[in-house]
Amino acid sequence: MTSVTRFLLDKSSEPRLQAPAPARDVVETAFQCAARAPDHALLRPWRYLVIEGDARLALGELFAQTCPEGATDQEIEKARKSPLRAPMVIVGIASPRTHPKVPDIEQVMSAAAGMSFLSLALSDAGYGAIWRTGGVAYHPRVHEGLGLKDGESVIGFLYTGTVATEKPGVPRPATDQFVRTWSGPGQSETW
Ligand SMILES: Cc1cc2nc3c(=O)[nH]c(=O)nc-3n(C[C@H](O)[C@H](O)[C@H](O)COP(=O)(O)O)c2cc1C
Repeated sequence: MTSVTRFLLDKSSEPRLQAPAPARDVVETAFQCAARAPDHALLRPWRYLVIEGDARLALGELFAQTCPEGATDQEIEKARKSPLRAPMVIVGIASPRTHPKVPDIEQVMSAAAGMSFLSLALSDAGYGAIWRTGGVAYHPRVHEGLGLKDGESVIGFLYTGTVATEKPGVPRPATDQFVRTWSGPGQSETW
């Protein structure tokens, strides 16, 4: 087993994060890893925004503005504070281009693969990371505030920083629960 496989088997998302955020060179390398995402026709249909320090407060204001009418003060405050759960938040954005052979869905999948690579590279450098979305990822006010263009979408918010407390182990499904062999239409068997 290579160290890469061992790393993937052990990898875990980490929600409890604190300062310091990953250093600039670590994040730079992680973005270079993100740019290795599978990418049909090399359209580079993704971009990222790095949000840290007080800029997280501005992101929190956007989140607070997504609360529906009737939300309690407590709910609004929770939304406002949510970007403070990590010292750095990286927004992954899918930017599909028009292409005769590559539908938007493939380009969004490429952006998602990039987010995974980004997260794995940060973990490999010793930092914690967790991919989050929620309603804020799909809200027009957030899209406007982040400067999304028509056709773009938020793939997710990658919260990253130093692990404060490791998450307890998550049970992983046995492969026979999600893998079968296929040998023809209507013919599939246990792996
Ligand atoms: C597109 C996407 C959105 C997610 N959104 C959230 C979220 O909003 N909140 C959350 O706690 N986990 C979210 N997750 C799940 C976590 O990123 C993570 O996968 C989960 O906590 C399992 O942890 P593990 O990576 O250690 O298996 C999301 C995952 C994906 C792929």
